[in-house]
Amino acid sequence: MAIRSVETLDRHYSAFEGNWKVADCSAEYGRLVVPHGNSEEPLYRWFHLKEAFSSRLLDRLLHDVGLSVKANLAIADPFAGSGTTLLSGISACERNGHRAHVFGVERNPFIWELSHAKLQARILGNSIAGSFAAELEKIKKFYEDFKYDTFVIPGLSTLKNEKYFPAQYMQDLLRIRHAIDAGATQETRSIFRVCLASCVEPSSRLRRDGRALRFEPSRDPKLPWEIFLDRVDLVRRDLESTKPAASGGEVVLGDARQVSSLATEQEFDLILFSPPYPNNIDYTEIYKTEAWVLGCYESEAEMKAQRQRTVRSHPSVRFSQEFVYLNSAVAADVHSLIDPVVSCVPVGDRYSEGRKEVIIGYADDMLRVLVECRRIIREDGRLVFVVGNSLHGSGDSKYVIAADVIMGRLAELSGWRVSEVKIARMLKRRAGESAFLRESLVILEPV
Ligand SMILES: C[S@@+](CC[C@H](N)C(=O)[O-])C[C@H]1O[C@@H](n2cnc3c(N)ncnc32)[C@H](O)[C@@H]1O
Repeated sequence: MAIRSVETLDRHYSAFEGNWKVADCSAEYGRLVVPHGNSEEPLYRWFHLKEAFSSRLLDRLLHDVGLSVKANLAIADPFAGSGTTLLSGISACERNGHRAHVFGVERNPFIWELSHAKLQARILGNSIAGSFAAELEKIKKFYEDFKYDTFVIPGLSTLKNEKYFPAQYMQDLLRIRHAIDAGATQETRSIFRVCLASCVEPSSRLRRDGRALRFEPSRDPKLPWEIFLDRVDLVRRDLESTKPAASGGEVVLGDARQVSSLATEQEFDLILFSPPYPNNIDYTEIYKTEAWVLGCYESEAEMKAQRQRTVRSHPSVRFSQEFVYLNSAVAADVHSLIDPVVSCVPVGDRYSEGRKEVIIGYADDMLRVLVECRRIIREDGRLVFVVGNSLHGSGDSKYVIAADVIMGRLAELSGWRVSEVKIARMLKRRAGESAFLRESLVILEPV
């Protein structure tokens, strides 16, 4: 059964892929679709977002899609994450003596603040280093003054669990947040808050792996204030070494499925993004401790509402059952694309419905994003997305969601041509498993 599902789906995916140029580019791109090198790079090293791509990806891509010669570039990323596209877009243009205009959209409030802070820092650079240092002195003073105050621990049970966060450390994290609120100005507040966010995991006994927060009893939590001062020092050095940019741009807190209305009147030469992959990873969950410490949610209900606003890439929550494609001119084509995948989901267990909804909901969301992006691309522009395929189910009922093929076909249904699929990484697989277990860059041109 397992082999049959995998083979049947491989044939289904191959039928679409047969029309495209597909190349193994793992030697050039394997390290570029992961955050390789970012932990040593000024600004990129402020917070480790495991799902980010490398700061060096965009340079390589501009060259490969033939955009590097253009003067000024307008670049968008509707799934901005930690802001890699935006920051590296500015650097790539300025290195060649040109300017960039960058525009990002991000749905998660903490991740949005991370990209917003880094973009501010990239644009303003050392012009704000002086005020950053002066405000740090104020924050220190407020931190001292709050010494005997007790802060209400936010409503998330994880933060109240003293096995995860020693009670005093949680108080210290909150004290830092309140000191930032009192001492920082609009211009630097988000930068200080990112410094605080980067202290949350090290001051706990939790470790973030790819999928969840894991409890590590033997771990020794570090003193929040000490880590905070270290982080602030690193950020101060990065600000001092960053020349203000001639480029500009912004990242907005919003939904990629509405990118054309958020980017009012703008058109782009390059749209580069990596959406959440349909692999059950839930960003709201993975970055929840930072979001709660920063005060992004007031209640569990608010966090649930946030989860429901993200793209339907995982079954951790029941999402809206509205599917826009059903009433579109391409409904029949979308059905013939996704029905064979849906029919491979094993029936009769408690995960069945959730698994089917991920396939249908994800396809619907990606179709909307690709349609929206088509509205804001220049005639000679390019769209590149990075996405990973994944193996689902277990035992005898495994099946692959080939997100690169599904999105490539959805792109064709929304006014794009697939000019190339560059395979960046073959994912680990056992003998007999699908050749579609891979991570790819798909390059699109408007038609
Ligand atoms: C793979 S990450 C992007 C990482 C980014 N390329 C980087 O280098 O940091 C996908 C991002 O999409 C965001 N996201 C999820 N649903 C979204 C939506 N509906 N609109 C915009 N962003 C969304 C997630 O919060 C996450 O930050």
